[in-house]
Amino acid sequence: MVTMIDPAAMQFVAQRPVGTLATGTGTSGGSATPSLVPICYCWDGQDLWVPLDTKPKRVSDPRHLRRVRNILAEPSVQVCVQDYLRDAWTELAYVIVHGQARLVEPGAPGHADAVALLRAKYRQYHTMPIESRPAIAIRPERTTSWGAIARRSDRPALLESTINGRRSVRRFTQAPVPAEMLRQIVETARWAPSPHGRQPWRFFVTTRAETRAHLAAAMGDVWQSTLAQDGESAEIVAQRLEISRTRIRTAPAIIIPCLYLEDLDQYPDVERQAAETTMAVQSLGAAIQNMLLTAYHLGLDMGWMCAPLFCQSIVQHALDLPATWLPQALLPLGYAALDPKRRERRPLDDLTRWDLTN
Ligand SMILES: Cc1cc2nc3c(=O)[nH]c(=O)nc-3n(C[C@H](O)[C@H](O)[C@H](O)COP(=O)(O)O)c2cc1C
Repeated sequence: MVTMIDPAAMQFVAQRPVGTLATGTGTSGGSATPSLVPICYCWDGQDLWVPLDTKPKRVSDPRHLRRVRNILAEPSVQVCVQDYLRDAWTELAYVIVHGQARLVEPGAPGHADAVALLRAKYRQYHTMPIESRPAIAIRPERTTSWGAIARRSDRPALLESTINGRRSVRRFTQAPVPAEMLRQIVETARWAPSPHGRQPWRFFVTTRAETRAHLAAAMGDVWQSTLAQDGESAEIVAQRLEISRTRIRTAPAIIIPCLYLEDLDQYPDVERQAAETTMAVQSLGAAIQNMLLTAYHLGLDMGWMCAPLFCQSIVQHALDLPATWLPQALLPLGYAALDPKRRERRPLDDLTRWDLTN
């Protein structure tokens, strides 16, 4: 048993489809009667949100539901999320989140973002008016867990839900990204393949609002002159600038992946040296993909902006990076504010030539 808020336990919770909410089990609420109810929920990094949706219920006003009356009398609750439908008992696991619940009315802070997250998780909510109904928000105080909560052998889940589910996200809720999750994400970059195993990359990671604002302003000045050079109208320039600046300023975290060429082999001829650099760039792409997939696996979302490539020295200067760190991209990171449209892919046969023996 583990007692604290364990990031691995919250990751397990974020990834599971449903849970069970126990209310009325605390000791201080005299009028609460213990109740268990299956729930849909989402995790925004701070609170678990449980919608009071329009699935058929015995009472029409959600405030009269037993779970709501219980919470108003006694806010201590527990949510159990489990993986108990496996033949291999070594893979069974559950997490219980212990926390304080509150009823959040539409329009109150966090409600709209939670609705967006719930719609991203459950397509059935796209057509249910959950934005106009109160929701229960549960602030975890501790987690207890048992079993294989950090199971890594779930290959079908990796293929089907992580690789195909990931998409580039450009707008985020304001829920912060826990530092522990950022570490987990960047840690997976380290395991990317690289030429001669030299790991020709470095990563700048920030969650600081002032840093993001400073970077957005510095990069904005470059964009402004580039767009003006391209002959765009002042109005379009201003619009596009504001979109890009806002993306950087409002992402709860950003990662700037940089190339680091100092440890690569040195060749006397330009051609081989260029191939060495290309290998480093290819390898940085692999490191970035590791981070994109890990973020998604952890219930987070990420984007990919190429802009730093076009103003490397500005980014180096704004972030006080060494001259040997060559910024290649900007990866905004957080919880998606909208369910981004899935980009279709070309059919596999358009992209391949097969020469198989069977
Ligand atoms: C090298 C590279 C540069 C990219 N630059 C940008 C960018 O500057 N702005 C942006 O919105 N998306 C950018 N993207 C994201 C792509 O638009 C996105 O991956 C693509 O449309 C497929 O969508 P998906 O990632 O949601 O599947 C970039 C992706 C890559 C690989």
